[in-house]
Amino acid sequence: MTTTLTLHTTPFNDQKPGTSGLRKRVPVFQQANYLENFVQAIFDSIQAPAGATLVLGGDGRFYNLEAIQIILKMAAANGYARVLTGQGGILSTPAASCLIRKYATFGGIILSASHNPGGPEGDFGIKYNTANGGPAPEKITEAIFELSKKISHYRIIEASDVALDTIGEYTIGKMHVSVIDPVADYAELMESLFDFAAIRGLLAGGFNIKFDAMHAVNGPYAREIFINRLGAPVASLMNCVPLPDFGNGHPDPNLTYAHELVEILYGENAPDFGAASDGDGDRNMILGRHFFVTPSDSLAILTANAKLVPGYRAGLKGVARSMPTSAAADRVAKELGIPCYETPTGWKFFGNLMDADKVTLCGEESFGTGSSHIREKDGLWAVLFWLNIVAARAQSVETITREHWAHFGRNVYSRHDYEAIPTEVANGVMTHLKDSFASLPGQKLGSYTVERCDDFSYTDPVDGSISTGQGIRILFTDGSRIVFRLSGTGTEGATLRIYLEAYDPDINNHHLDAQVALSELIQIAGQLSELVTRTTRVQPSVIT
Ligand code: G1P
Ligand code: ZN
Repeated sequence: MTTTLTLHTTPFNDQKPGTSGLRKRVPVFQQANYLENFVQAIFDSIQAPAGATLVLGGDGRFYNLEAIQIILKMAAANGYARVLTGQGGILSTPAASCLIRKYATFGGIILSASHNPGGPEGDFGIKYNTANGGPAPEKITEAIFELSKKISHYRIIEASDVALDTIGEYTIGKMHVSVIDPVADYAELMESLFDFAAIRGLLAGGFNIKFDAMHAVNGPYAREIFINRLGAPVASLMNCVPLPDFGNGHPDPNLTYAHELVEILYGENAPDFGAASDGDGDRNMILGRHFFVTPSDSLAILTANAKLVPGYRAGLKGVARSMPTSAAADRVAKELGIPCYETPTGWKFFGNLMDADKVTLCGEESFGTGSSHIREKDGLWAVLFWLNIVAARAQSVETITREHWAHFGRNVYSRHDYEAIPTEVANGVMTHLKDSFASLPGQKLGSYTVERCDDFSYTDPVDGSISTGQGIRILFTDGSRIVFRLSGTGTEGATLRIYLEAYDPDINNHHLDAQVALSELIQIAGQLSELVTRTTRVQPSVIT
């Protein structure tokens, strides 16, 4: 016997989704009705038709299983006909996007706080993806927020928990729950895009790889793809068992947080190739032996070499990058004669361009790269793309990158993050910068001259929607830039991101460390923002 309950609740006023869904600390989500309110607000705003199917899964972080059981019972009470979920409640974000598209569901709910730490005191998150497999656009997330502010009831079925550990078909009330293998459909999609035979040959020929899943969701995906399908030795994997607290780590694949992998790739007898992905499997970091590929360069290099990959051999419609991402991809697009779009930060802006068939590849400086095969960024996809290129060119990661710079010039790039700054201090920095807009153009700062500055705004070329306040840009006459932006995903105070980019066509400088090559711009950024005086910070928290 199951009973549908309509329970009384009162609103929380902080359920505004950020760059990628609602993210809060686990204890916030554990408050009575907190998750329920937000889920009901999603269901009320999306108004699924009768008979709708939903994809549901998460990155395995603490509270994932409890949340899935609650959402299943709420979906049943709200009239869904079927929910597809991964065994153990596991679905990487790209795999969820793949399932939504493949089975044409009415979107999906993804439980993740991406690269943020997990565990009982860590972060949790929830977001709704629409039927195209991508994060809901702002007009939907705003509607969800509005409803969350006036919610008075939610619906839930009283039923026992679903045995998520066992693949099979279950029912809750009248709703079917299919617990499926979280990896199979995704692995099949990867095999359809890349030359697995060539990659298998590369690996069999002694090319050593090391993949670090950072104790997060991609462990089982990496095992199936690299070991079972591509024949890599088991020693190629590290940290591939997903843990609710990510082994107490920070599952963000960059030089700071993936240092275990970085030390191996920069050590003696280093493997030829290293890669890592984040909590929910959508980010990637690519390393060669003693070599790091900046994500902005990675997007440009994938674009330039796409013809070597079966899934992209027919050509690219266009490429898109987020505004703070370097303009390296723009140079490739120009040579290929394809359009290049500059969007605000966050993956949701790429979705419209892909749905309208305007772009095939896209990426962000924040270790996110992807293509129109799904509507999320995709960590393992990027790793496979690189391996496919390496196999086809029979060159090292470093040689491929240096040849790219020699041909297109190098967009030297770095991002400096200042985390957990008091919100009013961070806002003060941004206001101060905006106040200096009028006086900056034409000013000479060291060897750079300011051409113009603005607060980036974007008009979506597909639906005409306008997004303002997307980051302050100081553009210099030689194409170099400094961008200041406040993070939309942090959960503590504010995070100020400073993005630095200098274009250098001279091959004689291409050996320089990015921090050295950018030192003058770093100094200028500090002066313009009155950084030390205002924040008392003398060093960034993270440099990528
Ligand atoms: C960060 C990244 C952004 C990415 C987002 C979700 O957002 O900068 O590129 O899309 O995480 O992974 P931010 O904290 O800067 O708002
Ligand atoms: Zn992520």
